[in-house]
Amino acid sequence: MKSFCVTLVLFLTCGLLADCGSVSNKEMLEVSRKLYMDDAGDRIVNYSINTTQNAQKFFTKVDEKKFQHFVYSNFFPLLENYNRETGIYETINYEKEEKIIRFLNTFINSKVGSRLYNFLQSKGIPGCSNKAEFKRTLKTKWFDLYRRSRKVLDSSGFEHVFVGEINSYTGKTIGFHNWVQYYSQQKAGNIKYLTHLEQCLENLHSLEFEWHNALKPCSGFAVGVSPAYDLAVFTLCHIAKPGKRCKVSYRNTDGNFKTAFVQTYTWRYTPHIASAYFLC
Ligand SMILES: *[C@@H]1O[C@H](CO)[C@@H](O)[C@H](O)[C@H]1NC(C)=O
Ligand SMILES: *[C@@H]1O[C@H](CO)[C@@H](O)[C@H](O)[C@H]1NC(C)=O
Repeated sequence: MKSFCVTLVLFLTCGLLADCGSVSNKEMLEVSRKLYMDDAGDRIVNYSINTTQNAQKFFTKVDEKKFQHFVYSNFFPLLENYNRETGIYETINYEKEEKIIRFLNTFINSKVGSRLYNFLQSKGIPGCSNKAEFKRTLKTKWFDLYRRSRKVLDSSGFEHVFVGEINSYTGKTIGFHNWVQYYSQQKAGNIKYLTHLEQCLENLHSLEFEWHNALKPCSGFAVGVSPAYDLAVFTLCHIAKPGKRCKVSYRNTDGNFKTAFVQTYTWRYTPHIASAYFLC
């Protein structure tokens, strides 16, 4: 009886006061369009790429001025936090934990992070009722470790999506859906660019490449957007449409917004993100 009443109260509260946990496609398109526009101050538009067959490098030029913005400068240190092989323990010591907190604070205070928080909070999404709780939710989703190889705590959503991993069984690159990581690994000489597969909308590209000699047959990412934008859109989709193809609004080459798709995966009945990326 008691649990029935609790359920009933929750149902009534959600039904009458807020549409808890349910976000319509129209709201998704609207908030994602605003997230794209909010990112304008941090987005890097001054870059050039080489999409010709047999090009040596994908990025031929990137204007790095904006790498000094906190959404980048507090992001780069996180790329060093992980061991890329699956099956090997990740150790998150105090220093690494500090980097994570610094990045999450930067994110929450960024334009896209604030917009995402305000939206989720207004929709009554569990885990988003105040900023401290929202930060814990983000940390759980992206940074809590889990056993991708089924053996040891060797992975997290952040590592998989933003850094990339090498599957120790297949020897292939998995995850790796972030342009900043691609560019910094290209600079470090760890990338062999194989093929430009496709361009969609304004700046979504899919490539075939090798990272530390481990093949990634197809990886799509948005070029130029800040890490805060990717984190916001992927989190939005994972919360509102978990484990699905999620419709978002994204700018096209003609300047108009069109529908794009983001795919997210949940790690085996946990709150953690297994993967998230733009479909191109
Ligand atoms: C783009 O970068 C080049 C240097 O690589 C610079 O000369 C140019 O002014 C930049 N353009 C913009 C719009 O920032
Ligand atoms: C793009 O790649 C082609 C093929 O390797 C090369 O000839 C060309 O110079 C490259 N363009 C730039 C801008 O680097």
